[in-house]
Order: sequence, then structure tokens, then C-alpha cells
Amino acid sequence: MHANSGDEQLIHRALELARQGLGLASPNPYVGAVIADAHGNVVGTGSYTYSGVKHAEILALEAAGNKARGGTLYINLEPHAHQGRTPPCADALIAAGIHRVVASMPDPNPKVSGQGFEKLRAAGVRVEVGQMEEQARRLNEAFARYIRHGTPLVTLKAAMTLDGKIAPPPAEVLERHDGIPPGGWVTSEVARAHVQELRHRNDALMVGAGTILSDNPLLTDRSGRPRRRPLLRVILDSRLRLPLESRLVQNAAADRKNDVLVFCAAADEQKKAQLEELGIRVETIPAVEADGRPDLPAILRRLGQLEITSVMIEGGATVNWTALASNAVDKVFLYYAPKILAGSGSIPFAAGAGFLHMGQAAHVKRIQVHRFGEDFAVEGYVRDPYEE
Ligand SMILES: NC(=O)c1ccc[n+]([C@@H]2O[C@H](COP(=O)([O-])OP(=O)(O)OC[C@H]3O[C@@H](n4cnc5c(N)ncnc54)[C@H](OP(=O)(O)O)[C@@H]3O)[C@@H](O)[C@H]2O)c1
Repeated sequence: MHANSGDEQLIHRALELARQGLGLASPNPYVGAVIADAHGNVVGTGSYTYSGVKHAEILALEAAGNKARGGTLYINLEPHAHQGRTPPCADALIAAGIHRVVASMPDPNPKVSGQGFEKLRAAGVRVEVGQMEEQARRLNEAFARYIRHGTPLVTLKAAMTLDGKIAPPPAEVLERHDGIPPGGWVTSEVARAHVQELRHRNDALMVGAGTILSDNPLLTDRSGRPRRRPLLRVILDSRLRLPLESRLVQNAAADRKNDVLVFCAAADEQKKAQLEELGIRVETIPAVEADGRPDLPAILRRLGQLEITSVMIEGGATVNWTALASNAVDKVFLYYAPKILAGSGSIPFAAGAGFLHMGQAAHVKRIQVHRFGEDFAVEGYVRDPYEE
């Protein structure tokens, strides 16, 4: 509590505290706060976790007590000026005698953005905005997308070979050729462990019925870290092909967490009743395309209504293409293993018609490359989550 540090170090600390809200704060933003007294000594910290209700800056103020007077608040997001689930934090900061606020970025909610800073400035508080802004914007990108558009941030994640294959040829083809049972991971254990971190950061996962039928996955968050709401497992399944004996269905039936949501286009009432009996939610979303499949943009709007701020698509080739073709993708996280499958029978990252001209290709920007042992991953944005 007595570190004597510069602004950058303390805002970095606020960002670290904000990250403690991963898996907990959604659908609200991640916020961390540090209060330093007039001599630069840290006298209070806080991080927002939703269930505690109190905002990070209020927790920091409580920890600081009288020592907050004349001090500086370091925070990754603008303190709010309006009455929400909690009273305005800006008022509490003013009342506590905070003399300076160093913040990374304004509130991404256009309805309230700037109001907190305005209120603080009007009360004579010195406000400086923009410290470590890029990191702060990345941290709250899902909240930004959700609060501006009412739909979740969509990350398209896949694991593939260097030549862009997500799986060898389907089981029926393999059996015909060599009798070797299908299976085997594309990427290494260390890359797959990182996928669990991504799952932990997301409110929902999404795959198509094809992935359930071929891989029989569980689609759970196995990061080992706490989450306030269970990870919602979303399955796109027009005609309810989801097998009752699949691991996903059996797991949902055993755990009864209400965390599997199947979107179909035309429900077979008997199968729907069987799934619901096992604790699985089934919703019908009408098809708009001739393929008779539930409309992905409508599904995303529905997820937004359910306060899902982020969804990671881990689908097979069909869902991956639907997501790209319907302009649903905000960012990609593509893992590559140093392997080459080759052949026209193996499964490409995204099937379907594909983009027919180079000028139409999804352009991934602000690329970051991550290494995972022998594997690497490309993270980047197809669309700015903060765009209007
Ligand atoms: N390496 C990886 O990262 C990775 C990840 C996942 C899967 N895979 C591989 O991908 C292969 C499976 O590919 P897949 O294309 O069959 O799986 P998929 O994309 O997960 O599922 C496709 C199915 O989803 C259903 N669906 C329902 N609504 C849809 C919609 N709006 N848009 C698109 N699809 C919709 C369709 O079946 P209905 O028409 O019956 O509804 C469609 O056939 C397997 O080999 C698996 O191992 C690899």
C-alpha cells in the first residue's frame, strides 16, 4: 500500500485490477481503480466484480478513507455520473475530496460518455484522459460492442494447419480409405490451454450441429477460474439433429445449469420436448435464406437480449463461413499448427461460396501474433468493436 510510483505504473495497476473481473463483471465493464494520496502512496484499490455491486472506485475510496482527500484516482474507465444500479461514482469522488483523476478512456456507452468527466471537471477536479488507452479499449471491447449495438462481440476462433485445414476428411471418407478411427488434435496442449483462457473471457460459445456430430465436444470453460454466469453453449441446429446421447446433452442433463441453448429453424416438437426434458433450451429463429437455417444476425440480437456481451464461434467450416458471409465477425483468433494436411477432401477453415474477389475478402487489421510452443495464433480485427 505504500508504493511511490508514476502515473503509468498506477494506471497499469488499475488495469490489472480491472482484469480481476474477467468471467465475473459481464454484462458490465471491467473496471479497476487505484487511489494514491498527495505523496503518491497507494492508499486504496478496488476492482469491479458485479456481484459485490460496488464499483471499483467506491471500493478504493472505502479502503482509502480520509487518506483519499487531495489524492489522485487512477482508473481504466470514466467514472459514471448517472444513477444506475449504484449511485453516481463521480459524486462520491468529489465528496471524498479527490483532486485529480487519471483515466484511460471515456465510457463507451454513447448515452453517458463524457458526463462523468464533465461533472468532475465542473467540481474543480483535474481530469486527464488517455493513459494506456489502447490496452483499456481492448479490455472492454465486448462491453463496447454490446452497449452500442445490443449484440455481442463475435470472435471467430479456429485451430488449423498451415494450409488452412481445420480437420482431415470426414469420418465416413476415412473409414472407406484406411479404417483408422478419426480424432487427434490440430494444435498442441499449450495452444489448447490458451483456448480455455479465451473461453473464460467469453459469455458464450457457438458451434453448428456438424461439429457436435463429428467431434462430440463438451464446450465448457475448463480454465479453472470462477465465473459468475455459466458459459452459454449455443448450438445452431435447424432440424434438431443434436443427439440425445452426445456428451454435451448428457453433461447439460447432469449439471442442470441451463447453459445450453439450441437455435433451430423449424422445431420437431417431439425432439424439442425431449431436449427440454434434459434441461436444454430450444428457441426457434426463422430462416431468411433459402438454406432454411436460423438467421445468424437474428440469433446475435437474441443473445444480446439475454445480456450476452461476447460470443466465440468455434464452429466447423459451415458456421465459420456463415459468420463471415453475414458480416457477423468482429475479430479472429486463428491458431496455426506447423502441419500441412493438403488434399481436397480435408475440411477448410470456412466452406461455402467464399468471397469471389480479393477486394471482398475479410480484411483483418491490427494483427497481433502469439506463440504457443510450436504453434502460433493470429489475433486481429475484421471490424472495430468501437465503431458506431
Ligand atoms: N479445428 C477446428 O477449429 C474445428 C472446430 C470445429 C469443428 N471442426 C471440424 O469441422 C468439421 C465440421 O464442420 P461442419 O461444417 O459440419 O460443422 P459446423 O459448421 O459446426 O456445423 C454445420 C451445421 O450447422 C447447422 N446450422 C444451423 N444453422 C446454421 C447457420 N445459420 N449457419 C450455418 N450452419 C448452421 C447446419 O446443419 P443443419 O442444416 O442440419 O442445421 C450445418 O450443416 C468437423 O470435421 C470438425 O472436426 C474443426
